[in-house]
Amino acid sequence: MLKEPGINKNLTKKVYIETFGCQMNEHDTGRMLYHLEQIGYGQSEKRDDADIIIINTCAVREKAANRLFGHLGNLKPIKEANPGMLICVGGCTAQNIRDQIQKKCPFVDIVFGTHNISELPALIEQRIRGEKSICSIINDGFDHDLNKVKRVSSFQALVPITIGCNNFCSYCIVPYVRGREKSIEQASIIRSVKDMVSGGIVEVTLLGQNVNSYGKDTGKDINFSNLLESVSDIAGLKRIRFMTSHPKDCSPDLVRVIKERDNIVNHFHLPLQAGSNNVLEKMNRGYTREQYLGIIDNIRNSISNSTITSDIIVGFPGEERKDFEDTLDMVRRVRFGRVFTFIYSPREGTDASKMEDAVPLEEKKKWFNELLQVQNKISCEENEKFSGMKVEVLVEGKSHKDGGLLEGRMENNTVVNFEGSTNLIGKIIPVRIVHARTFHMMGELVS
Ligand code: SAH
Ligand code: SF4
Ligand code: F3S
Repeated sequence: MLKEPGINKNLTKKVYIETFGCQMNEHDTGRMLYHLEQIGYGQSEKRDDADIIIINTCAVREKAANRLFGHLGNLKPIKEANPGMLICVGGCTAQNIRDQIQKKCPFVDIVFGTHNISELPALIEQRIRGEKSICSIINDGFDHDLNKVKRVSSFQALVPITIGCNNFCSYCIVPYVRGREKSIEQASIIRSVKDMVSGGIVEVTLLGQNVNSYGKDTGKDINFSNLLESVSDIAGLKRIRFMTSHPKDCSPDLVRVIKERDNIVNHFHLPLQAGSNNVLEKMNRGYTREQYLGIIDNIRNSISNSTITSDIIVGFPGEERKDFEDTLDMVRRVRFGRVFTFIYSPREGTDASKMEDAVPLEEKKKWFNELLQVQNKISCEENEKFSGMKVEVLVEGKSHKDGGLLEGRMENNTVVNFEGSTNLIGKIIPVRIVHARTFHMMGELVS
């Protein structure tokens, strides 16, 4: 029988976790690892010799579910060969289609949701004791402790500040799988960031579906600008990132704080989603293209060296060619540093999934490629502006593309590759940009 959680610290068993989706899911994986360590499971890099396999799923696009079932199909023979191995499915797709998972894949041992990660050791214990396959999902909860996370990096940390979302953009599944927006207490955020910094963390990313609405659910007089100021005051913290900012809550006060504080990055990820007012309204985004441009002007007039990145959906139901051209027009006007582009994917249960969608997928794909072409040229030109400049780079490790080089990130999140010694990893150093590409830069160390 397994020992009580918190007692067995000898990591004699192995868990393999595969993570899909956003940084919130990455953070949740760290939480799963923490809780499993308490009952003796260490992280394994190899799937087939693990005692537990966990798939931490995303649900933001329709293909996520197909992908999960494909994945589980591959795991079935492994489970048959090794019946003692536990297969668990967590994350947003588990939250979304729990019954389908259990029905289609009865060999899955545990299905758990996004609000009960801390319960995982108990569920595993029950299953090992011989209980039949388990599905434990809480529809809308709050299960968070910023200190109970296994960290993968010794110098960077993700810090959730809000959980869930209240915006109900008409295409989006996130509010249904993550529940209503709840802010983590400011004192607890500050305390844990201080601890992280004492432990060597130099960069934190404050996470939320809409960080700008931090505090609104509490009824107290706190907001994201105040939180940022307090985090920024923590001595030794060199870089503060934040994701995602919703344009409708991007206040002038927030822009002021970011301008005033050197350790808060001048990078705004402000998803535009669409450039046509007609589509924006159907998306329930809460702003018009004119208001969005006003926010961009405010940011650029206050912070001249800021970078703005975005997310855009192509082919929303009812979107016509002229609406899409409005999106191209916005992309050309705003000149984002980078855009994450998506073809609209209908999500059952959302308002948009009930709207008429007449444009064929082939046409949407053409629009999508057109958008990519326009944006890639702009990204390259925007990156080119840094050529010859000295920038501060946090060295993250060896380059993913060329292991002979190092890889780091500029303040605006652009990847820079350059030659250097691995003992620079974890440090913020000056690098001169020698070559700009569409998605990354080549640089050289400044001695
Ligand atoms: N909270 C963030 C986004 C989270 S989801 C925000 O509001 O910006 C990340 C991105 O996935 C979204 O910005 C959107 O561009 C995309 N997305 C979400 N639902 C989608 C859907 N049904 N089809 C296509 N893309 C979608
Ligand atoms: Fe989804 Fe909109 Fe919430 Fe972002 S703000 S998570 S796009 S509902
Ligand atoms: Fe993130 Fe995907 Fe869930 S984007 S919140 S993991 S649906």
